Amino acid sequence: MTVHFIGAGPGAPDLLTLRGRDLIAASPVCLYAGSLIPDAVLDHCAPGTRIVNTAVMDLDAIMAEIAAANAAGQDVARLHSGDLSVWSAMGEQLRRLRAMAIPFTITPGVPAFAAAAAALETELTLPALGQSLILTRTPGRASTMPATESLSNFAVTGATLAIHLSIHNLAQVVADLLPDYGGDCPVAIVWRASWPDQRILRATLATVETAARGCAERTAIILVGRTLAAQDFAESSLYAPDYDRRFRPQGAASRFAGLSE
Ligand SMILES: C[S@@+](CC[C@H](N)C(=O)[O-])C[C@H]1O[C@@H](n2cnc3c(N)ncnc32)[C@H](O)[C@@H]1O
Repeated sequence: MTVHFIGAGPGAPDLLTLRGRDLIAASPVCLYAGSLIPDAVLDHCAPGTRIVNTAVMDLDAIMAEIAAANAAGQDVARLHSGDLSVWSAMGEQLRRLRAMAIPFTITPGVPAFAAAAAALETELTLPALGQSLILTRTPGRASTMPATESLSNFAVTGATLAIHLSIHNLAQVVADLLPDYGGDCPVAIVWRASWPDQRILRATLATVETAARGCAERTAIILVGRTLAAQDFAESSLYAPDYDRRFRPQGAASRFAGLSE
């Protein structure tokens, strides 16, 4: 018996890895985080699968489900939204599984920030303009933040920000970022990226609060940074016609001549 942790992606049922899809189909038990995973993803389960929504359970109850599957010798597909490496609560489950000597595998998924960038038809890193992306959040009722990981500390970097779990905190996000990013800094909000009712808002730090007013949906990612609206950025050296590189040596005098095969 094995517990397969699977990144279930941002919502669209075809934004899963093939490995994830196949593990879901092969596991007789499926535990899924129902607050963010739509029913359409569960269509990958085989008929007769025991499907359990863990959004209404505490950690002990989730582990009891896994222990029961273990006793029955049944594999478990454990689904969390997006990728498992950020805000999935996988870490605490792995610690329990290790203590119980229950084997597990981990299959990554498409994270929400990547689905949001795709919806915006945008590359979040652009030559010279922005080369770093900070994945972060603001404090929530269930989660405090380490003191040094404040938005105002990150703002000093000027990096592109992908702010999760914070749409209800938009006023504070704007207040924290305005001094460093300025009112004209582009902001994009994507609600339910890849879902049928996906919604996109493009604004600036000065206008975003007013523009977002009235949208009660909480599954949203806030992207902030100059790369979001840039048009006049430089092309990358990598594909410049005269750039000398191992895979495209520029003539016999290239330092890579003869090395590319
Ligand atoms: C508990 S975190 C899960 C993050 C997830 N593990 C990932 O890799 O994206 C939930 C937050 O991720 C963001 N999120 C998840 N799915 C989203 C989607 N389809 N569209 C926009 N934001 C999403 C929202 O900020 C939401 O509050």
